Amino acid sequence: MVFKTHKTLSTQIEKLKKESLKIGFVPTMGALHLGHISLMEQAKKDNDVLVVSIFVNPTQFDNAGDLKKYPRTVDKDIELIYKQFGKTQVVIYTPSIEDVYGKQAVSKRYFYDGLEHVMEGANRPGHFDGVGTILEFLFDKVRPDHAYFGEKDFQQLQIVKKLVEKLNLPIKIVGCSIKREPHGLAMSSRNERLSKQARKDAAFIYNTLQKAKIHFQSHSIPSTTEMVQKLFQQQPDMKLEYFTIASEETLVPVKRKFKKHTYRGFIVAHLEGVRLIDNMRLS
Ligand code: PAF
Repeated sequence: MVFKTHKTLSTQIEKLKKESLKIGFVPTMGALHLGHISLMEQAKKDNDVLVVSIFVNPTQFDNAGDLKKYPRTVDKDIELIYKQFGKTQVVIYTPSIEDVYGKQAVSKRYFYDGLEHVMEGANRPGHFDGVGTILEFLFDKVRPDHAYFGEKDFQQLQIVKKLVEKLNLPIKIVGCSIKREPHGLAMSSRNERLSKQARKDAAFIYNTLQKAKIHFQSHSIPSTTEMVQKLFQQQPDMKLEYFTIASEETLVPVKRKFKKHTYRGFIVAHLEGVRLIDNMRLS
């Protein structure tokens, strides 16, 4: 069933809770792709009921143009969910901005023990306040047992775990591996805005991460960073916003490797005016 208001959704959730059914939740901004479907498959497998929200959250965009251009395909998304999972024990929530925010769409302020100050937090001011605001709202209405997030937005995944810990919510956050297009580009709703050729060319980001992983085994962090920057310099159509190597747990960018730590390489690059994000475990 599709619910457009949080009131009607809450009534349905209350019914499910009375039946002691386990709820698996996949929050999305729509323009669904196979990456989202894989999160839903996991949610369906682990729980009795799948709840999906489709809402382009205005407060997490730091750029009005990006918000305007974000693909919106709600009817197609609903059709896809039903085609994949049927209509039984599937709940879809597609609210309006007013249903979520009332008259004024503003975000609350969140502190995630420093996870918010680096990478996406530093480059997109207010982004994680917007993400925290919408997820606190959705978690309160959906009351899931499990909620599923892709590792493509690895920083978001860590921040959501911190949010749930800080708010003391009884929700298990499940991270799911990155799904890729045939050439290697990480699946994302933003890929819709790329030309066919650019979608192929963007595999360069994945290939660079793979090279960084190999280089990282026998070289220092500054050397790996320099190698990545040089590769991007040879790619005039693609603009590197940042490449950062950080500890998986703290997300603090590092210059020296320490044994027993797990490191990840994070890339943000621009192609045809589209901001693309990807990451890979390096050790
Ligand atoms: O990852 C996303 O699509 C969004 O940040 C989320 C988690 C649905 C919140 O709007």
